[in-house]
Amino acid sequence: MIAKHIEKLAPSGIRQFFDLVLGMPEVISLGVGEPDFVTPWRIREKAITALEEGMTSYTSNKGLFVLRKAITDFFVKKYSLSYDPEEEILITVGGSEALDLALRAIIEPGDKVIVVSPHFVAYPALTEIAGGRVLSLLTSEENGFKIDLKILKNLIKEDPKAIILNNPCNPTGTTYNASELMKIWNVVATKKTIVISDEVYDELNYEGKPTPFASLSKEAKKRTILVNGFSKAFAMTGFRLGYACANKEIISAMTKIHSFAIMCAPIVSQIAGCEALRAQKEVADMRVEYKRRRALIVKELNRLGLSLKKPQGAFDCFPSLKKYKISSLDFAKRLLFEEKVAVVPGKAFGNEYDSYIRISYATDFEELKEAVVRIGRFLAKLSK
Ligand SMILES: Cc1ncc(COP(=O)(O)O)c(C=O)c1O
Repeated sequence: MIAKHIEKLAPSGIRQFFDLVLGMPEVISLGVGEPDFVTPWRIREKAITALEEGMTSYTSNKGLFVLRKAITDFFVKKYSLSYDPEEEILITVGGSEALDLALRAIIEPGDKVIVVSPHFVAYPALTEIAGGRVLSLLTSEENGFKIDLKILKNLIKEDPKAIILNNPCNPTGTTYNASELMKIWNVVATKKTIVISDEVYDELNYEGKPTPFASLSKEAKKRTILVNGFSKAFAMTGFRLGYACANKEIISAMTKIHSFAIMCAPIVSQIAGCEALRAQKEVADMRVEYKRRRALIVKELNRLGLSLKKPQGAFDCFPSLKKYKISSLDFAKRLLFEEKVAVVPGKAFGNEYDSYIRISYATDFEELKEAVVRIGRFLAKLSK
């Protein structure tokens, strides 16, 4: 009964693994990759008030104008990057829907899409659902998991329809500064390739200044679909709110699919989103706390001998298991059963990354400390 291309789609490696975790008591989860913070009160309060006032209807397909305007104003103020709130932005159900729409709006059967690996689990699956073919651009630990321009130059010769960039990157925490992005753009610009720039972690950049890909140049902006959302920086995963900014033609095509498949993002979430953009102090406080946790995890994992460079953004790190000669799934399963700590096997982010695990530090500081003790005990057993 099932369409062949869906049947052959591998299930999410993260989901599969976390089915094991469900129901196990006393597990410290460093796995799911979502903020442990509750959404800041001022945002929740606006959502509650909206409900009390009876705001329970559909909105326009593109989303509430006030929210579109608030987002575009935010970009002008922060990055001098301007989009028309009428025609160049679409409010979606999370960054996830924006990614799906972006791909479905531009991909025709067989079109190639460059996916930089290790990658967010959804990129290859959404590419295939849209009928595209994945061209993997592998990065390596030695290179800080950054794009090697020589490899990019080779892949771009294949005339890909799109490239998906993720800055800061899940699962590695790698970030790119403006000059690195410009070098990538200079290669991409030699073809007609569209850049899908997933910037859902832009506010969680701990060292440098976030640079939206579209802010590089007029030409880059024309060819970029900027994807962002409220889940990560504002701790609003359950609100399911995201957006895409791009030229009028692309946004109109994405809106077409969205209007038939989804109609609109939930109105209460959209109202909460307007308040979120004003909650910069709360975002900054969470950023400080993530930074504190990052310092702890990097110091402790290195002390335990799990080699790891300091990730620059997001809230994940991707340490290597190479010296233990164990697959990432075996490592993660044993760590779960023997020490009750859940991490994600690296293979979930690309077959080539079976000697890595992803550890998310969006977890309470005291729990992180306990997790590190348990990981240390487990590594000592492995080394025997
Ligand atoms: C890199 C990346 N992009 C997009 C998303 C989608 O997030 P959401 O749909 O909650 O906005 C995630 C969620 O984990 C992610 O890690």
